[in-house]
Amino acid sequence: MARSSQDIISLFDQYVIPNYTRYPVALVRGDGPFVWDAEGNRYIDFFPGWGCNMFGHCPKPVVKALQEQVAKLIHLPNSWYMEEQGLWAKMLSERSFGGKAFFCNSGAEANEAAIKLTRLHTPKGKYKIITFYNSFHGRTMCTVTATAQAKYHEGLEPLVPGFVYCNYGDLAGVEAAIDDETAGIMLEPIQGEGGVNIPSVEFLQGLRALCDKHGLVLIFDEVQAGCGRTGEWFAYQHFNVVPDVITLAKTICSGVAAGAMLCKQELAPSLRKGMHASTFGGNPIAAAAGIATIKMVEDEGLLERAKQIEKRAKEHMTQWAKETDIIQEIRGVGAMLGLELKIDGACFVQRCMEKHLLINCTHGKVIRLLPAVNTPFDVFDEGLEILGTELKKGA
Ligand SMILES: Cc1ncc(COP(=O)(O)O)c(C=O)c1O
Repeated sequence: MARSSQDIISLFDQYVIPNYTRYPVALVRGDGPFVWDAEGNRYIDFFPGWGCNMFGHCPKPVVKALQEQVAKLIHLPNSWYMEEQGLWAKMLSERSFGGKAFFCNSGAEANEAAIKLTRLHTPKGKYKIITFYNSFHGRTMCTVTATAQAKYHEGLEPLVPGFVYCNYGDLAGVEAAIDDETAGIMLEPIQGEGGVNIPSVEFLQGLRALCDKHGLVLIFDEVQAGCGRTGEWFAYQHFNVVPDVITLAKTICSGVAAGAMLCKQELAPSLRKGMHASTFGGNPIAAAAGIATIKMVEDEGLLERAKQIEKRAKEHMTQWAKETDIIQEIRGVGAMLGLELKIDGACFVQRCMEKHLLINCTHGKVIRLLPAVNTPFDVFDEGLEILGTELKKGA
């Protein structure tokens, strides 16, 4: 017999480490923009898989590709060649800057790979990496150190040496922070967890110029923004800046756990044999999901669709801003949307959940939406209607 949400919560209370804040609901099934709890309630999900499920839940072409793949090969270690991984790398390379790929299992691991590559590629003695306040790069010791937010460091000290923090957008500050030991600069081309912060073109182009001048590696963490979410294959393509390295995870496999680091051809030999590895990285299942994800974006015109999602969301949000005075700023690129409030946003997450809409709030005041790029417009409007109604009621 199916378990209730409460039965499932009891299992967690007894056997799962409580390091996450979880909503008191167990989700059991999903289909596109919808997800159902153990009691059979249907929710519209505007934050599916924390941004991983770029097409919502269980997209059919990806499910089909996975079903075919599991019947053929589930896992192969990287001591063998496998067609799926090679084809996936080719497809990512052709849609970015023509570089080479290293595959892993998560965003943090992709960033670890980028940090190692940067230290290996630059001359001995150069090891520092400049990162930015309000960034988010992961939870391993190295990537949490790269994440310049004190709240994630508490109790973990000593942190990993070699990270220098600057203000996002402050080019002069970055220039002043560069010294003889600097090896690279790492940032999200659009900050996600930090509040959907969109930098100026001049800032990103200025960082590129500084990296060229000082021989630094420019790493863009596209774990949240990459692979079509923003309406371009990669967020850097909005800014006319080409980084040396991009890191990917979340979106690249429609929810199957995977990560990737892509680097320019000339950097690739620096990650020399024996210096880095991942047992599951680029496994046939991840590769099948990755290939199916790219094909789905193209077959269904989803880059364009992400732009339409942005337009539609901003139209609604602009209207709300006229009807309530709690909205500070509307931000977003494609299906990566942030609504900064003048007041705390947590109560809206709770109230929307009660109305069966799932959203996120980050940095206290920013309502963050990472909806499926192919959310049908009538469902998108239905969800926005719920959120708008709650916002207009106020705190
Ligand atoms: C921009 C960015 N980088 C890295 C990470 C870490 O990814 P993971 O949780 O897969 O390690 C995240 C996760 O939210 C992220 O948003």
